[in-house]
Amino acid sequence: MTQIKSLKGRRVWDSRGNPTVEVDVVLRSGASGRAIAPAGASRGRREAMDLRDTDSALRGKNVSQALANINGPIAQALSGMDVRNQEAVDQAILSLDPSPTKNLLGGNATVATSLAVLHAAAEQAGKSLWRHVADYYKRAPSLPLPEIQIFGGGAHAGRRVDIQDFMIMVPGATSFDEVMEVTSEVYFAAGDIMSARGCAAGVADEGGWWPLFDSNEQALETLIAAIELAGEKPGERVVISLDIAASELGNNGKYQLALDDRELTSDNLIELLGKWLNDYPIVSIEDPVGEDDAEAMIEFTRRFGDRVQIIGDDYLVTRAALVEQAIDDGACNAVLIKPNQVGTVSEAIEAFNKATSGGWGTVISARSGESEDVCISHLATGLGSKQLKVGSFQRSERMAKWNECLRIQDELGAGSFAGGASLSRTWWGKSK
Ligand code: PGA
Ligand code: ZN
Repeated sequence: MTQIKSLKGRRVWDSRGNPTVEVDVVLRSGASGRAIAPAGASRGRREAMDLRDTDSALRGKNVSQALANINGPIAQALSGMDVRNQEAVDQAILSLDPSPTKNLLGGNATVATSLAVLHAAAEQAGKSLWRHVADYYKRAPSLPLPEIQIFGGGAHAGRRVDIQDFMIMVPGATSFDEVMEVTSEVYFAAGDIMSARGCAAGVADEGGWWPLFDSNEQALETLIAAIELAGEKPGERVVISLDIAASELGNNGKYQLALDDRELTSDNLIELLGKWLNDYPIVSIEDPVGEDDAEAMIEFTRRFGDRVQIIGDDYLVTRAALVEQAIDDGACNAVLIKPNQVGTVSEAIEAFNKATSGGWGTVISARSGESEDVCISHLATGLGSKQLKVGSFQRSERMAKWNECLRIQDELGAGSFAGGASLSRTWWGKSK
């Protein structure tokens, strides 16, 4: 009864209006699971590839080949398999395409299939997805502390500012509900400031305000002003988190900050970020240098790793082997986990486990191209990941994930909120 009876892929559309794949898995018992592949815009070079048609229709983004792979070889290989063994299912997918970047099947095809199977296993067990994940992977569930974007930038906002994500965290909150309330106040305070300056111009790809600033640092100054306008003291209940997404600026010693009309060496970039760490209450910084600039990442971690969370996103692409290497190197102290970056649930869990066993922090993350799929909220809670990043506080593909956490909070109890404990390695955690 727990075997896969049918597996079907269909074309649906993501939050940017681009085509993507959805997979439905139906079991012999009648239980079913569904998942939609997300899509990144600032993608790491080592990520699993999104398989897209190369013809001119839909700006080269159509997914008919990925769908053919789901409805053909993947459906055939998985037919009759028991969904209670996620590793075996993922292994069957990998044996069709052993390439680390899923060039043959497409990471979009594999991740939607793998996640749909996880959903079906949860439904078969009569459990919420988060509870199935916690039980299956033997983790203590907890509601994560969100990172929430206030201004979008980089590849998500026409490169209007160079830095990609200006975010807040509310580690001083005692419940997920409180985080939402504080975030709403800060988000709209930021919008009011933009309106008062006559520079309100809509929102970026992940729902953060479109950043009409004269310099990158002005975004930080405005974020501080918004936190204050919301009645908060920056650095207390509310702190700042940045995703530099530095691979989008360059690599290996040549980084362009176009808005500031500056070209920086790796050392210059480290100096600039170090200055911001001194001047602003920043607790977390993602991809501070380029994905191939290992020496600079090691140096950045050596200098600042005891006072700030340093997350590898493009630098690690959710791959266990790269996490292991970075732990050995002393590069980063936390990992961003994006299942579609690596292509299957089991591989994402492997990277997650590698990070936690190395004493690292973990942040489960959505992509800039998203959908109504909320599995990411369940994965973060079920794995007890402590942190979750899904974009801003507007646009339904973002709010769906936050709202799902509120529903999970009702099931799990407000006391299960991870809060600021996950920032214990930063100055914020140490001063509490
Ligand atoms: P992406 O960006 O989904 O466009 O790659 C998200 C991130 O860099 O964290
Ligand atoms: Zn990132």
